[in-house]
Amino acid sequence: MPANIVVGTQWGDEGKGKIIDILASRADVVVRSQGGNNAGHTVVNNGEVYKLHLIPSGILYPDTLCLIGAGVVLDPKDFIGELDSLEARGVSTANLRIDPRAHIVMPWHIALDGLSEAFRGGSDIGTTKRGIGPTYMDKYERCGIRLYDLVHPEVLAAKIKSTGNLKNKIITEVYGGEPFDLDAVTDEYTGYGKRLLPYMDDVSVLTFDADKAGKTIMFEGAQATLLDIDFGTYPYVTSSHPLSAGVCVGTGVGPKVISNIVGVAKAYTTRVGKGPFPTELDDEIGDKIRTVGGEFGTTTGRPRRTGWFDAVIVRHSVRVNGLDSLAINKLDTLSGIDTLKMCVAYKKPDGTVIENFPPTLEELAGCTPVYEEFPGFGEDISKCTSFEELPENCRKYIERLEELVGCHVGMVGIGPDRSQILER
Ligand code: GDP
Ligand code: IMO
Ligand code: MG
Repeated sequence: MPANIVVGTQWGDEGKGKIIDILASRADVVVRSQGGNNAGHTVVNNGEVYKLHLIPSGILYPDTLCLIGAGVVLDPKDFIGELDSLEARGVSTANLRIDPRAHIVMPWHIALDGLSEAFRGGSDIGTTKRGIGPTYMDKYERCGIRLYDLVHPEVLAAKIKSTGNLKNKIITEVYGGEPFDLDAVTDEYTGYGKRLLPYMDDVSVLTFDADKAGKTIMFEGAQATLLDIDFGTYPYVTSSHPLSAGVCVGTGVGPKVISNIVGVAKAYTTRVGKGPFPTELDDEIGDKIRTVGGEFGTTTGRPRRTGWFDAVIVRHSVRVNGLDSLAINKLDTLSGIDTLKMCVAYKKPDGTVIENFPPTLEELAGCTPVYEEFPGFGEDISKCTSFEELPENCRKYIERLEELVGCHVGMVGIGPDRSQILER
């Protein structure tokens, strides 16, 4: 399969990093096409844990070309920190390239993310406060700073002067915040530009050429379908398109390049940040899943909200992404729960039962999950070596899940390590 996409099907943190790392062992190129360092992708190899935010999860393979496409928003300070920490652990970053069109997260974007969230008070989104939304706002406002500008000091100085003055006015006069010293920002970001220059290359061309040469390409999704700006739980979403279709615009390749689309889900559901979560568990089972599953944000450390698997949202993801198969992670976390539940549909306040995720929060409000129950399993499944070796109740859970969402489950995760995956 020459060009594969891996996308999140819930609210993020489904274990995409792990699946990419596994599939990257068979890939020549790994590409990130949207989002920024709001992402936190964990890769575990023989007990060594790597938490990646901007750098593609193929980086642990020395011969894999890792690309950051035009649709990504890049915080250069954080990115350089990630480069340094990988290099310090002996991981080479020589095979990394960033598209000159990628927009740069400036310090005022981070400040404005925090100030606007505080201004919203109790109706805040619960963003990662990494400046993601404000950077995409400037991109679409057509006043953003891109990687190309960062490595050209005169262009950068002029752009910082024009946009920085406006940002300082908004920060001080609208929000009562502290202005930025624009000369100091120019010096600091010119320094980042020097460091990033060797990595700059046209990712659209590199990806096109790799495809023409018959290389295997993996597109690494960040965030997830229910966080998509249009098809997620708006406004409790991120500011990009984490869908399979977002890969083409975020990289600069045509859709015919894509041959296989894999969705990643957990065997239950989690969410960080605010917004609706129909199957949320506010009880000791939810706490148990959080503790056993280590459900704390990779980027912000916030406790993740936990709940039962929701077939309605994953069915929505199967449709909007055109999934060929699913990888279901963290089945091991459900061990020891007597009765497992899976949401198969929603019941509206008027009693109507619906199977498709409603397009708006207004229509979702008042919907309650319709559950199917399953006998649980008590065995430790983390050392199983095949799907057939799993306890019968585990297999039945997965088989019913795939029936409900209408998509084949091709992989089942039974632990965080690279090796803890059962392929079907
Ligand atoms: P991503 O953002 O989708 O890449 O996911 P994160 O890395 O933020 O969160 C997933 C967490 O689950 C990480 O701590 C992974 O190491 C861990 N993980 C992934 N798959 C499995 C699995 O099958 N079982 C267990 N127990 N942990 C897993
Ligand atoms: P990965 O790639 C989980 C959530 C935030 C917040 C909302 C908007 O690791 O799965 P933003 O900072 O993007 O403006 O925040 O989106 N969010 C994520 N939740 N995993 C992620 O990435 C996320 N990236 C953003 O918590 O609710
Ligand atoms: Mg994550």
